[in-house]
Amino acid sequence: MPYRFRTIIEPFRIHSVEPLRFLTEDERRQKIREAGYNLFRLHADDVLIDLLTDSGTGAMSRDQWAAIQHGDESYAGSPSWYTFLEAVQELFPFPHVMPTHQGRAAEKILFGAIGGPGKVVPNNTHFDTTRANVEFTGAEAVDLVIPEGREPQTLHPFKGNMDLVALERLLAGRAADVPVVFVTITNNSGGGQPVSLENLRGVRALCDRFGVPLFLDACRFAENAWFIKLREPGQADRAIPDIVREIAGLADGMTMSAKKDPLGNIGGWLAMRDDVLAERCRSLLILTEGFVTYGGLAGRDLEAIAQGLRECVDEHYLRYRIRSTEYLAEALDHAGVPIVKPAGGHAVYLDARALLSHVPPLEYPGQALAVALYEAGGLRGVEIGTVMFGRHPDGTERPASMDLVRLAIPRRTYTQSHVDYVIEVVTAVAERASELRGYRILDEPPQLRHFTARFEPLGAGR
Ligand SMILES: Cc1ncc(COP(=O)(O)O)c(C=O)c1O
Repeated sequence: MPYRFRTIIEPFRIHSVEPLRFLTEDERRQKIREAGYNLFRLHADDVLIDLLTDSGTGAMSRDQWAAIQHGDESYAGSPSWYTFLEAVQELFPFPHVMPTHQGRAAEKILFGAIGGPGKVVPNNTHFDTTRANVEFTGAEAVDLVIPEGREPQTLHPFKGNMDLVALERLLAGRAADVPVVFVTITNNSGGGQPVSLENLRGVRALCDRFGVPLFLDACRFAENAWFIKLREPGQADRAIPDIVREIAGLADGMTMSAKKDPLGNIGGWLAMRDDVLAERCRSLLILTEGFVTYGGLAGRDLEAIAQGLRECVDEHYLRYRIRSTEYLAEALDHAGVPIVKPAGGHAVYLDARALLSHVPPLEYPGQALAVALYEAGGLRGVEIGTVMFGRHPDGTERPASMDLVRLAIPRRTYTQSHVDYVIEVVTAVAERASELRGYRILDEPPQLRHFTARFEPLGAGR
């Protein structure tokens, strides 16, 4: 009988290190006050464990750094472009691929070409930049995730699934106004929850019936594919690239942020089948990003992404990746901290509305919790709730469907002892949650206010 061990270890060892800077709690209280109680406005050196995002914050591998040395900076037709194209099409065989500097640039180009007043774009849940780019064109962005996807405590293996009944209703009434149906894998704003193959096939069938194209917001496609392998009947024996290709085969195109699963520090792309649409998008690409064979990227970035794409579909990597997120979620759940269940792929989402039930949504319980985690232990998470989604294009403010704090796990960056520290800090803050007060916004821009708004704590007791 061969030995079997339960511990899932990091499938790498550390090659170069970055020091962390330790501040006292009083110093952190002063820093966050100076930052207008907005964690985006902090100097990153003043953060101990940075869980603001998993976007662009991963550690690159030895082989990615080596690939960077192969970067060819020719303006047109660089060999790095062909390396990138081959790696992308190996997983996503779309004939038209346009490199962009990050995901939102791909969104801006696509919606610039197909959005506009009177249009409506359904998605399981729009990410904030996706929603903003849809709305910027005058179109409407609607979220049609299944009801379980809006209930933090409800268990479901594929909580990111699209509500097919709601999608059918929308398409039956307004198909002519729908330029595209989007599915976000995994569903970041809905808790990093996966979408099943079965659901994607259902969305595809509806798109075929109503003659509407289907696009993927595929930033976390590898994590989504791993969940499919783990949880979807009949998928356990399939290779991850094979599952990814099936997902791609169901879609007409995709937007991508290479800062997530492809393990890049920057980058993205827009890909599609439609020749006519691709021509329009390429014109916009040249206008705002760069020539078609580099988009918004240097040749070395294209190389790093190509190598990252090969590494992120490795099963040892995905097993460790998903297990480390689950480890954090399990410990917090065990300690009685309300979280979105089950754990998402790239992040654990704290249910601030449940934990701070004494703080009404329009006093931003997620912001209150995120600030408290920084003050107490130097953690930086991000509010995903009423601050992020509460302000509407008509100027009104309404509570978001959930008030969460996302603790996103950068890829290959922190070790288990860092995660153990995070568990200790969150648990300690949760024990004193009743002492936390809400906030009001002092000033905010018209779009994407969470990045730059300044806040003030309400009442006494802080
Ligand atoms: C689901 C989703 N879509 C789009 C984006 C935008 O990508 P980028 O930050 O590269 O512009 C993100 C980034 O976090 C995301 O999570």
